[in-house]
Amino acid sequence: MSILIDGKMLAAKLRGELKEKVALFKAEKGEIGLAVVLVGEDPASQVYVRNKIKACEDVGIRSFSYHLPAESTQKEVESLIAELVASDKVDGILVQLPLPKHLDERKILKLIPPAKDVDGFCAENVGNLAMNRETIVACTPFGVMKMLEEYGIDPKGKSAVVLGRSNIVGKPMAMLLVNADATVTVCHSKTENLKEVCAGADILVVAIGRPKFVTADMVKKGAVVIDVGMDRDENGKLCGDVDFENVKEKASFITPVPGGVGPMTITMLLYNTYIAASRR
Ligand code: GUN
Repeated sequence: MSILIDGKMLAAKLRGELKEKVALFKAEKGEIGLAVVLVGEDPASQVYVRNKIKACEDVGIRSFSYHLPAESTQKEVESLIAELVASDKVDGILVQLPLPKHLDERKILKLIPPAKDVDGFCAENVGNLAMNRETIVACTPFGVMKMLEEYGIDPKGKSAVVLGRSNIVGKPMAMLLVNADATVTVCHSKTENLKEVCAGADILVVAIGRPKFVTADMVKKGAVVIDVGMDRDENGKLCGDVDFENVKEKASFITPVPGGVGPMTITMLLYNTYIAASRR
C-alpha cells in the first residue's frame, strides 16, 4: 500500500503562500498581470483557460483574457501578442495550445520574449533549463518536482524513467530530474523492452496520454509513481495513464487522477507569473 501524493492539498498550500507573496509585491511595486490568449472554441481549452483565470483571481494576480474567433488570421493573432509584449501591465503571456491548424504556432510563440514566457516553452528558457541555469520552467514538470520535494523524495542517485517525450512535459521533466542528480531514461512509443525499462525505475513519471497504460508488472516494488495523464476510461470516467488500483499496491508513493499533478500545473503557472514580475 502506497502513500498518496496529494496534489490538491499541496496546490492549495502553495497558492496560500503565493497569495501572501503577491500581496507584498503589490504593496511595493504594483499589480502583477497575466495575459491569457485563447483562439477558437476547443472545449477542453476553454475549461483550462477559465481555470487559469480563476486561479489568478484567487492569488491576486490580474488577468487579461483574450478570446479570438477560430477564423482569426495569423496577422490578427500576431498583432495582439505584439501589443501584450509591449504592455508594462503584462508580466506573463500564455497562448493556450493547440491553436487552430491554419495558424503558425511556432511563429506566434516566438514573439513572446523569454521574460514573459510563463509556460517556459521558448528555446531560450528550455536551453537554460538544459544548462541548469536560471530560467522559467514548464508548469507541469515544475509541479512534479515540487511534489517530490514536499514528500521528501530526493531524486539524487535514483533511477528515474520518464515515459513520454513531449516538449511540454517529457523532455523538461527529464532535464529537471538530471539537474536533480537522477539517472534518467526517457521512453516513448518506439522504446524496446518498455516493461523492463519501467520496472527498473525508482521514480516513474508517466505522460503518454493512454488510459491505464502502466500496469503493476511495469512497476518496481517501492517505486514512486507520478501520473501526468488526464484520460477517460472505457466508461468515460476520468483516469490517468497509470492503472492506479493495482499499481498503488506496489508503489511507495503514487499520485491520483484527479487530484494529483493537475492542480499543481496551474499553481506553477501562477508561480511563474510571480517570478516573471519579480525579475521585471
Ligand atoms: N495546452 C495544454 N497544456 C498546455 C499548457 O501547459 N500551456 C499552454 N499554453 N497550452 C496548453
